Amino acid sequence: MSKIINGKEIAENILKELKEEVKAAETQISKSPQLSIILVGDNSESKIYVKNKIARAKDVGIEASFYELPEDCSEGDLEFLIDSLNTDEDVNGIIVQLPLPKHLNEDKILNKITPEKDVDGFTDTNQDALFKGSSDFIFPATPLAVIELINRFDNDINGKKSCVIGKSKIVGKPLAKMLENLGADVTTIDRDTKNPEDISSSADLLIVAAGSKHLVKENWVKEDALIIDIGITKDNDGKIYGDVDFDNVVDKARAITPVPGGVGPMTIAMLLTNTVKAFEKQNKLI
Ligand code: GUN
Repeated sequence: MSKIINGKEIAENILKELKEEVKAAETQISKSPQLSIILVGDNSESKIYVKNKIARAKDVGIEASFYELPEDCSEGDLEFLIDSLNTDEDVNGIIVQLPLPKHLNEDKILNKITPEKDVDGFTDTNQDALFKGSSDFIFPATPLAVIELINRFDNDINGKKSCVIGKSKIVGKPLAKMLENLGADVTTIDRDTKNPEDISSSADLLIVAAGSKHLVKENWVKEDALIIDIGITKDNDGKIYGDVDFDNVVDKARAITPVPGGVGPMTIAMLLTNTVKAFEKQNKLI
């Protein structure tokens, strides 16, 4: 088995399975899942991400509709659009692509999405449910992508000494909780942690979501650790870099995800999985 974990290939397998699931649901209720994606402004990277999400949604039989609002749109305009999608019975999932322009309150906007349609899993209702141990909620897509990636690679989380670098509300924090729920012994690190490499280098499972190009070097890593890199930094050379210095670390790791081609394609696959689950739930198929 290669030590480079091919997220693209694993995501393709998930999407194939999802396409079959959509077909099976459609034969029961003659409806397709519908996903609405809202993009505010002209962020060129966001446009590429959204285009990708729409293309992959269509591949699996999800109808995707795209709403583009101008950079200077008001909070009221955006909230009005979200409300109309919330009340549209044909819409199963809603995504507001981040980042939003600075004048818009991201937290307030995300919490406008009805939790049953929040397929990113960003609303407080879905986030709180995870921490309260409820099972009836939507998991945030990126942490879910990491768990699914590990499960499909070697299904070895229970009892693992794990370290999550990064404590963001939408990735690091929920991921640490999800790993804990699966029996891992989890330590989290952020920019205030003293000597972070002393902690990370004792972990058998190291997951990095710091948003800092090549932060993790060989001395941060335990021999034979499994390393998952969630970082995506676009540098001045136009290339995408992870949070892990791949070339410096690869020989020491038992296995490692590349950037690009690791967690990124998996996040889209899990976002679409969440959309199909939302569709099935709303139509009482599950
Ligand atoms: N921007 C970058 N990643 C994401 C994501 O997973 N969801 C949304 N809505 N915006 C993003």
